[in-house]
Order: sequence, then structure tokens, then C-alpha cells
Amino acid sequence: MAFSFHRSLFIPRLGPCPLPSPGLDREWGCGGASWISDGERILLDDTVRASSDTPLPEEWVSVEKAGPRRRIFFDPAATTCAVVTCGGLCPGINDVIRSIVMHAHYGYGVHRILGLRYGYEALNSRFGHAPVELTPERVAKIQHLGGSVLGTSRGPQPASEMVSQLEAHGVQALFVVGGDGSQRGARDLYEEVARRGGRISVVGIPKTIDNDLLYMDRSFGYLTASSEAFRTIEVAHAEARGARNGIGLVKLMGRDSGFIACAAALASAEANFVLIPEVRFGMDGESGLLRCLERRLRERGHALIVVAEGAGQHLLPQEATRSDRSGNKKHGDIGAYLKAQIEAHFHTSKTDITLKYIDPGYQLRGVVATPEDRTFCLQLARHAVHAAMTGRTGMVVALWHQRYVHLPVHLVAEGIRRVNPEGDLWRCVLESTGQPARMGVSI
Ligand code: F6P
Repeated sequence: MAFSFHRSLFIPRLGPCPLPSPGLDREWGCGGASWISDGERILLDDTVRASSDTPLPEEWVSVEKAGPRRRIFFDPAATTCAVVTCGGLCPGINDVIRSIVMHAHYGYGVHRILGLRYGYEALNSRFGHAPVELTPERVAKIQHLGGSVLGTSRGPQPASEMVSQLEAHGVQALFVVGGDGSQRGARDLYEEVARRGGRISVVGIPKTIDNDLLYMDRSFGYLTASSEAFRTIEVAHAEARGARNGIGLVKLMGRDSGFIACAAALASAEANFVLIPEVRFGMDGESGLLRCLERRLRERGHALIVVAEGAGQHLLPQEATRSDRSGNKKHGDIGAYLKAQIEAHFHTSKTDITLKYIDPGYQLRGVVATPEDRTFCLQLARHAVHAAMTGRTGMVVALWHQRYVHLPVHLVAEGIRRVNPEGDLWRCVLESTGQPARMGVSI
């Protein structure tokens, strides 16, 4: 079939392009995989409508659009909702709690909404955390507080015990606010409810500053954490510029994904080296970090390094693997390692440097959400309430291609999303910093 597209979408060109891009020599393509060919296009309208008369062709992969439905499953007056917040803190959690309560109460007329205390521990009677009643009055001002007014905890609890507790509290709709581990817990809950033939809707809301959840544009909290990280980078840059041979070294959260480091470094445009877990780097040799740093100091008199906490773990002494209660590997301190290595290197070469190491740590996630994240939280929460009231379950609300959608929870629970070393984000970081694509490594 001939491929055609609307004439008004043609981009005029001044003529053919006979010259090679200079990026071909400078590794912009990171190995060639991310060059764009002229035939690549994005669907302008990615909305599709299926009906029993005109089902979608099977090869059209599509997800359900979020939003209010004309008919709902639960009788609001007889419905009890519950909210649980799990995992690490994240800006915007209280916005989500508030919006769920406001929307369920005023939008649907649900008058019994329980706040479950300290994550999934709330659903294990062994801990004895009694739920609290959430009313519009009680949550009216919580968006001005960082953290979670309900408290959180890491780690799963037995699904069978959790479902029994939900039943004991008379809950029909549970909202799980959490990252990948928490959504795996939500998946287990949903499966246990289904196994019992129960009628409890389990709806997830994606939360993590790391932005490492699969199949979504972003999770809430990420934008706020990145702008907080940006402020730290600006401060580190000022320190680096303020000294002869000044080096600013900033370590940012990002356990296994370097999204925060990339976003904040790009926003500041001052970072000279960005180190993320997804891209291996070495310290030694002509193309290693130390020599690159030497050159940078010689040419510009100062340098700024941004490192995500999960970067360069292969360089650190491999202690016995430790994990947190969610089963996440606990990383060694790459920031302290870099500081020690850089100082030792310049001491040996008798070069006087001033290194300022800044680790904002939990500062990125204990703050209140930015206006953009707040709006995002509100939208996610209201779509979650819409979905739950129709009896949908085993799902997560998400923003996908700038639209709110319903994703099956098992998709989100599949793993984590990471920065693609062949993709446009990383290419943009390489262009912005000017750092070599392969720093101190041969492959
Ligand atoms: O997952 C979000 C996150 O902030 C990671 O970036 C970080 O490694 C981790 O949580 C730290 O969490 P905690 O110290 O609370 O276990």
C-alpha cells in the first residue's frame, strides 16, 4: 500500500543535504543507533476507537484512555475507599492524598475514606497501625507539607494478610501510591482479591523521584526533585568558579536510573561531566575521568561533575551485597570515592585544587511539590478515583504521550525504566557537557 500523509504536514526544505554532519566524527550518534532517518514520523493523533463492529487490528498496541465514565460500578454512599503510600518519600504525596479525598468526596459522594498508616505495614495486623478517617477538612491544607501525612514504609507484606485486613476494614477501593516495588505489591493484592473472588478495586498511582517506572512519560515528584537538584548544581557551579582550579562535585539520588542527574545537568547547562548508572566510565587512561578533568582545568580553570548515586559501582570495593527492605541493592558511596580519587590524583601531580563535594541527599524528596507536579498529582488522583469507581482494578493511572491512560499493573511491575545510552536524552547530555561518549572504557 502506498504511504501518504497530509500535504499540510510537509516541512519545506531549502534543498538536498550533501554534507556529512560533524556529529558523525564526534560520536553524537553514540554508536550510530540514534540517528534519525527522514522517513521516521510520529502519529499525530494517537487516539483510536474500537467497537464490536470495528475492533482494532491486533497489531495496534493501545492502552485505555483514563477519564470519567457515564456508568460506575460502586454505589458511592456505600463505598469505603482507602489510600496507602509506600516506599521512599517523594514530593507530591500529600497532594495525591488530598486530591483523592476531595474527588471521591465531592465528585462522587464517597464519605468513608481511610488513610492507611506506614505503607503496607498498615495491612499487617502484626504492626497494629489503626487507619485514620480522611475528610476534606482533615486534608484541606496537607499539600503545604512535604513527605506523607500517612507515613510510609518499604517492603511488601503477605498479600493474603493484606486482603484480609482490607476486608476487615470494609474497603472496596484501594489506592496504592508508590514506585515499582509498591506496584508489585499492588499486583499481588489484586491477584489475591481475584483469587478470592472479592470485589475490591486496586488502583496504583505512580510515585518516584527517580522517574524509573515503565510505560509512562513520568512519575510524580520527578520534576520537583530535578528542579531541587538543579538548584544544588547551580550552587556547586558558583563554588567551582569561585576558586582557582575549583571542582564542584554533586551527588544526586538515582539508584539505578540517571534521569534526575541528566535533567538537572541539562537545565543548568553548567555540568562538564554527568555520570549515571546506565553508562560505564573509568577513571584512568587518556580518556578516563581524571585526564579529562585535568584538561578541563587547564583550559577553563574550573569543572563541575554531576554523579547519580548508582553510577560507577564497578569501581567501588565490592562488599557483601546489602539490600533495603524493598529488595533494592544498597549502593556504595560513589561521591566519596570520586572525591578521594580526584584529590589523590591532583595531590600526586602537585596541582593545587579546591574540591567542594555537595550531596543534597534527601533534600530532593522531602520538599513540597512544584506547581507543575501539583497539577500532575491532582490529575493522577482524579483519574484514579474515576477508574476505581467504575470497578476497574489491577491497573495504574499514568501519563503516556501526554494523555492520561490506564495501564495493567503487571506491565508497570515488570521492571524499571533506565536512561537509554543510545537515546536522545543521553545524546543531549553528551552534547551539552562535551564529555567523551566513552570515558575511560574501550567498549
Ligand atoms: O527510589 C527513590 C529513592 O529516592 C532513590 O533515589 C534512593 O536511592 C532511595 O529512594 C533511597 O531511599 P531510602 O533511603 O529511603 O531507602
